[in-house]
Amino acid sequence: MAPPTSQDALLREDPTSRRIKKYTDEKSTMSSDDSDYELEGADVPLTKGGATRMKTREVRPKSKKAGYNVNVDVGGGRKKKGTITVAAIMAGILAALTVVGLVAGKFGFGPFAYWNLKGLPYGYGYRTEWWGPSPLGGTVPAWEESYAKAHKLVSQLTLAQKVNITTGTGWSQGMCVGNTGPVIDQKTGKEIFPSLCLQDGPLGLRFADHATAWPAGLTAGATWNKALIRQRGQLHAKEARLKGINAILGPSMGPLGKFPAGGRNWEGFGSDPVLQGIAAAETIKGIQSEHVIATAKHYIANEQERFRQTNEWQIPFSSSSNIEDRTMHELYLWPFADSVKAGVGSIMCSYQQTNNTYSCGNAKLINGLLKDELGFQGFVMSDWLAQREGVNAILAGLDMTMPGDGLLWQDADSLMGPVLSRGVLNASIPVERINDMATRIVATYYQFNQDNKELFDGEGPNFSSWVNDKEGYLHFGAGEGPKGVVNKFIDVQGKGKDAHGIVARKIAAEGTVLLKNEGDILPLQRGQWKGKKVGIYGEDAGPGKGANYCVDRGCNQGTLASGWGSGAVEFPYLITPLEALERSFNKSKDDLPKFTSVLDNYELTKTESSASEQDLCFAFINSDAGEGYLADGDVKGDRNDLFAQKDGDNLVLAVANSCSRTIVVVHAVGPIVMEKWADHPNVKAIIHAHLPGQESGNALVDVLFGDVNPSGKLPYTIGKTLEDYGPGAQLLYEANAIPPQQNFSDAGLYLDYRYFDKEDITPRYPFGYGLSYTKFELDQRSLKIDIVGKLTELPAPRPSKPLVEPPSFPTEIPSVSEVAWPKDFKKLHRYIYPYVNEDDIVIGESPYPYPEGYDTPSTLSQAGGAEGGNPSLWDTLIKVSVELHNKGPRDGQEVVQLYLSFPEGVKDVAGNDIEFPVRVLRAFEKVEVKNGDSKTVELELKRRDVSYWCVIRQNWVIPRGVFKVRVGNSSRDPGVEGTFKAE
Ligand code: BGC
Repeated sequence: MAPPTSQDALLREDPTSRRIKKYTDEKSTMSSDDSDYELEGADVPLTKGGATRMKTREVRPKSKKAGYNVNVDVGGGRKKKGTITVAAIMAGILAALTVVGLVAGKFGFGPFAYWNLKGLPYGYGYRTEWWGPSPLGGTVPAWEESYAKAHKLVSQLTLAQKVNITTGTGWSQGMCVGNTGPVIDQKTGKEIFPSLCLQDGPLGLRFADHATAWPAGLTAGATWNKALIRQRGQLHAKEARLKGINAILGPSMGPLGKFPAGGRNWEGFGSDPVLQGIAAAETIKGIQSEHVIATAKHYIANEQERFRQTNEWQIPFSSSSNIEDRTMHELYLWPFADSVKAGVGSIMCSYQQTNNTYSCGNAKLINGLLKDELGFQGFVMSDWLAQREGVNAILAGLDMTMPGDGLLWQDADSLMGPVLSRGVLNASIPVERINDMATRIVATYYQFNQDNKELFDGEGPNFSSWVNDKEGYLHFGAGEGPKGVVNKFIDVQGKGKDAHGIVARKIAAEGTVLLKNEGDILPLQRGQWKGKKVGIYGEDAGPGKGANYCVDRGCNQGTLASGWGSGAVEFPYLITPLEALERSFNKSKDDLPKFTSVLDNYELTKTESSASEQDLCFAFINSDAGEGYLADGDVKGDRNDLFAQKDGDNLVLAVANSCSRTIVVVHAVGPIVMEKWADHPNVKAIIHAHLPGQESGNALVDVLFGDVNPSGKLPYTIGKTLEDYGPGAQLLYEANAIPPQQNFSDAGLYLDYRYFDKEDITPRYPFGYGLSYTKFELDQRSLKIDIVGKLTELPAPRPSKPLVEPPSFPTEIPSVSEVAWPKDFKKLHRYIYPYVNEDDIVIGESPYPYPEGYDTPSTLSQAGGAEGGNPSLWDTLIKVSVELHNKGPRDGQEVVQLYLSFPEGVKDVAGNDIEFPVRVLRAFEKVEVKNGDSKTVELELKRRDVSYWCVIRQNWVIPRGVFKVRVGNSSRDPGVEGTFKAE
């Protein structure tokens, strides 16, 4: 489409500035007496979502407004009971603004200087680089049919109906954490397009009953087992579908793990773009095979919790992740490219700013990289309140706002909804944009056959995120209106041999990494401990106060099986290590050892004296983290260090100093520093069991007793200190500016093992490392490296036109009547509608400040052209094969990893030196080989794998020279080596 001319721009409004005005107005006028609500003071029930945001307090209307008509037109007749944080939030904002004023003064900025930040030395961003117009969806054959159906449906809709599809109805106004507005035929009352239910998250179904608590993403990553990762996604989605969920808010692939202490790394799969990308793509394929939409999140560079969100950290702006172009492509964008290639239906943009523009309003990120270069066909939704601007964000490519509210939780003052309606009518937003937004969402729904009543019964979600009772308000957030059945308590966990717990146990066992096994103390032999004494130490072995004791698992107590935050779920049950151990030592009834346990980490004297009497001891320690809206003591989302928490180091020492056979078991959200005890002569074995989910204890004993031969590999490096990961891996704990600035150039491409290799630092355990009970060997003589494609410098040119023509719609501005409030309309409290009062449609009030360059269409990327980017980036160019022998005593699985070293002395077209990491993971396969047997393992390198991103050519380039291929079982294993040459 042709972008509007600057002449047109004179007739447009800027809703963003209205928001800010409103925000300050509210601040000055708000008092509890002015409010319709009074704070009741009681915390809402802990088990469901009502209490999870900023310690929400329950409110109720002072006087019951009688005679509400529920508006079936928009609300679908659903409503429940509400929560609000008005006073707390307002007080927080006042305090925050004061702090900002003071701090900003110190830094020489005016309080709102942010809005004018221009010209920062980074390549992306609305204010520094505009990319537009927003590319249309529907340009690839795989989506053609869905777009044709969507075109047909969207063509019949009014503006209000289209807006409803793009806008959440407000926090807790529907059953799920995100709910779009339904489209109802005004005349017949029939539903034309349903309200979509979006639900967290990457580890299971948040706030749902009778559903599986899966091992975390990090545990799945540690399996390095593609088929198992896919199965996890598939069964997770099956559960979602049976609960009436349209989209799962996962998998997570950002954070990528820049900061080992980052609070949400555990939701993703590991600190390497290739591992992360492959695991994400497998998960997406698994989820979408069940007709549920997967959401790749958080786009992009959301690497730490602190300062990620406005207001949450007493600063009204979120931090900025400043990334240069090559690092963006080779690290952070990489797994998203894999996700798009896998056909992902939706992508969630992140809270923080990227290059000083909010990620959800960053045209270079969304229009440019995602929709043009990667050819993304689905829709982009905001993280919850991550949309911080109205028109800007919409022009930048945001398709859906979640949960629908505006700048504050439950303010019902959406930055889409009526703003979008108004923006289209006054021509700030091109008609083509709203059509594309709605079409992308509807096409995604069709892409996964969600209109098929055999897959989705059309009744919507059958559980409530907010209450546990069977019946209640249908719109919880409204606090008024009709009631009905909100929880049907449908058990979706599978039964008998199809119970999902069986697969969860398998993943947890395969995601358990054996780090040390001196004298082959493991596997333990059943029956051989008869009459012996076994001591089990540490809170992490036991049940604590119950698996669901804290909201969203926001505290570290009892055995650790999940991190905390929106990525956590209610455990249907949790098998503790203690109970599993106590029933696993015997072969027959009477050959159990005598067990002793001390589950209090701080009872060190008792532990020490008890351990001295044992033949075998287990020391359980852990380290927890999670999303930044919850804190456990001084762990405010991100970890403060990498040490075991709750005095874990001293616990291990107390046990190991007294017990000559000590096995240490770690449950943690990532690496922990083990230097105080890893070399202790009595520490015979170390196991990192990650976050195993509900089957924790069972999976652990499977490995301890050798029912499962361990095959997990570290999805990150375990360093000897946090400092060993490098200066670029240190989280920003104190604001260094307003907004806080994080310059990713401090690490560049040197993430995790790449930094250790560069600086030649010996880790405690390297990336990719993990022991087995058998012995594998790769045969150097068998290594074959075949060039099977042309190693030309550049990929084939981008196809000259879209593979498929996207749908087109009339571009006339619709009539105001399309968004007029229906007659006799009674609004639900805090529910977001698309309608506007005619008086509110102000044309020509102020010129809309389009960004520089808005009138000139941006140049399409040569790296683009199809879903996942230029199709030739996905061509296999090199095939590698090698024989793997199992020379040990048992059958087992090994992860064969391919690391690539790029040629030396590479220069770009301008003669600049191009540096490369020593080696980078590029492919892996997990293979099962019987004892005494061998197998040929085949690995492939695609064009993207052997290219670097050239910032000058703005394309992927294969450098000339000799590449080294190393195949081994960790990033430090010399394994077998060969070369190939690009001439
Ligand atoms: C998180 C997202 C999550 C959303 C909905 C946000 O706070 O960052 O990952 O999907 O909430 O719960």
